[in-house]
Amino acid sequence: MSLTIRPAEPADAGLIFDFVRELAEYEKLLHEVGATVADIERDVFGPNPRVFSDIAEWEGEPAGFVLWFYNYSTFRGRHGIFLEDLFVRPAFRGRGIATELMRHLARRCVKESLDRFEWSVLNWNEPAIRFYRAIGALPMDAWTLQRVSGGALKKLAAG
Ligand SMILES: CC(C)(COP(=O)(O)OP(=O)(O)OC[C@H]1O[C@@H](n2cnc3c(N)ncnc32)[C@H](O)[C@@H]1OP(=O)(O)O)[C@@H](O)C(=O)NCCC(=O)NCCS
Repeated sequence: MSLTIRPAEPADAGLIFDFVRELAEYEKLLHEVGATVADIERDVFGPNPRVFSDIAEWEGEPAGFVLWFYNYSTFRGRHGIFLEDLFVRPAFRGRGIATELMRHLARRCVKESLDRFEWSVLNWNEPAIRFYRAIGALPMDAWTLQRVSGGALKKLAAG
């Protein structure tokens, strides 16, 4: 096995954008992607970035990625990691690449004393849910994600 996991570099902005679109297509949410390569360049590779990405390469070929940021738990008194995106290209699946990407972030959590590593998954995404069970993740059934966006966000802001 020739797998390398490395931090994304500015030259990867287009690759990350492609991964984001491939993930969105898989999730049947391509119509919701409004982000551009310029957004990724600014937010992942600009000064003092608040969002980060790691790239998995299989024999030098880009195979998958994670994109993540730090969150915080007041109950635990610790930062954590929120995983925004995990994606492995179909041709590279079943080789343990996602497992290694998740292990990579789990190691960061341990090293930086981060207490929680968490993410959302679509209810219908059974293969991903099976994968998450296999790596020891548990569903947070008592919690549901809440979101204000678009017109509702403007209305709330306007008062
Ligand atoms: C889910 C995903 C990231 C897994 O990537 P992967 O590199 O194939 O995963 P791994 O090879 O590390 O698999 C680890 C385990 O998960 C399970 N698994 C992974 N993909 C699976 C699939 N498609 N079907 C069934 N089981 C699967 C296997 O049990 C495997 O265990 P094994 O080692 O005993 O075979 C990948 O299928 C993917 O990118 N899917 C589309 C995007 C997606 O759903 N992302 C997550 C959004 S929340």
